[in-house]
Amino acid sequence: MGIVKRIGTPLSKCATRVMLLGCGELGKEVIIALQRLGCEVIGVDRYAAAPGMQVAHRSHVVTMTDGAALRAVIEKEKPQLVVPEIEAIATATLVEIERGGVAGHFPEFIPTARAAQLTMNREGIRRLAAEELGLPTSPYKFADSLAELQAAIDGNADGGIGYPCVVKPVMSSSGKGQSLLKSAADVQQAWDYSQAAGRVGAGRVIVEGFIDFDYEITQLTVRAVGASGEVETFFCDPIGHVQVNGDYVESWQPMAMTPSALQKSREIARAVTGNLGGRGIFGVELFVKGDAVWFSEVSPRPHDTGLVTLATQRLSEFELHARAILGLPVDTSLRRPGASAVIYGGLEEKGIAFEGVADALQVPESDLRLFGKPESFRKRRMGVAVANADTTDEARTRAKLAASRVKPVKG
Ligand SMILES: Nc1ncnc2c1ncn2[C@@H]1O[C@H](COP(=O)(O)OP(=O)(O)OP(=O)(O)O)[C@@H](O)[C@H]1O
Ligand SMILES: [Mg+2]
Repeated sequence: MGIVKRIGTPLSKCATRVMLLGCGELGKEVIIALQRLGCEVIGVDRYAAAPGMQVAHRSHVVTMTDGAALRAVIEKEKPQLVVPEIEAIATATLVEIERGGVAGHFPEFIPTARAAQLTMNREGIRRLAAEELGLPTSPYKFADSLAELQAAIDGNADGGIGYPCVVKPVMSSSGKGQSLLKSAADVQQAWDYSQAAGRVGAGRVIVEGFIDFDYEITQLTVRAVGASGEVETFFCDPIGHVQVNGDYVESWQPMAMTPSALQKSREIARAVTGNLGGRGIFGVELFVKGDAVWFSEVSPRPHDTGLVTLATQRLSEFELHARAILGLPVDTSLRRPGASAVIYGGLEEKGIAFEGVADALQVPESDLRLFGKPESFRKRRMGVAVANADTTDEARTRAKLAASRVKPVKG
């Protein structure tokens, strides 16, 4: 396996070069973590001045869904490690390069090209989890048209998904194109929205039975070289979170769980990450009701709800990812309970400013990340507040208070 045996000097011939595909707020923190360990980091994203680009050694603006363009930038930079930070990437090209190299160079893809490919499409990861690994999931079907969607819900001989149910484009993230359907009256609108808001425009949807869970968690799971010298699986404390319209608004760690639900969550996380393979951190999303646990989806990379680990863990999820991908030891221990709360742009404007930062940081044990995104949208995540406390309830109150004091204004 392509574990980095030594770390070179950045910007020299022996540099340990890492390429981030995606330079959002999560990529930015991974880049900082890698640079602290002495790596040379190249950022790639679809627009200039993305958060991660602002801290990378250098960067390229590339349409990453364009396989030829992606291949060209990897060939130009010849990084040892290529780290996808987002889903919308020409993953077939990653699979090709993993197999055949590019101009005689064989980069390692984190965690594997196959993991990136399977998880960018809800169908790939859902069929793997439910049909190959036999993990509990919501009931689901796929549909390519309004008529197929209606039939999937109504069912015929094999029984339909029924109501309530959730419709999502197979290729989408952050809740885009996703609807909750309560009755037949909602089907047309859900179909239209899925077609307008999916990542690649018109296309296939998944319809899932609605799980009436008590709470949902992210089980951060790290595959890293352990004391045995082999890749082992390490678990962070579970993260609880609240989603609004499919997008995370607050998270906290640790989430209190019954021992049985925690154990089931970790068995599911071990099974799915073990199948995806490679090294790095994974965010395994699970629904919990009593002692019952359902697998929802998995990110083979840091997870947005894991921003809370900037405050709670000895090593944040970004530092864990950096260590794991370099083949270094990890420590997933929790330092202190904490919470995170998202700061939205609130306005549609380029080059905005933030007021109230000093007031926000008056909140005890609080901290902020302002991502530096060049353009604000009303519902764009522009920053996050994190806070610690003796309990997660108190930490949530503090994080939300700090976030609420940050006021995005015209620049
Ligand atoms: N079958 C379901 N039953 C109940 N709630 C669901 C179901 N599917 C999704 N949700 C809710 O919607 C949220 C977003 O769903 P999902 O994670 O599949 O979408 P996403 O677009 O990938 O979001 P993200 O990229 O933020 O993870 C879930 O975290 C959960 O709160
Ligand atoms: Mg999700």
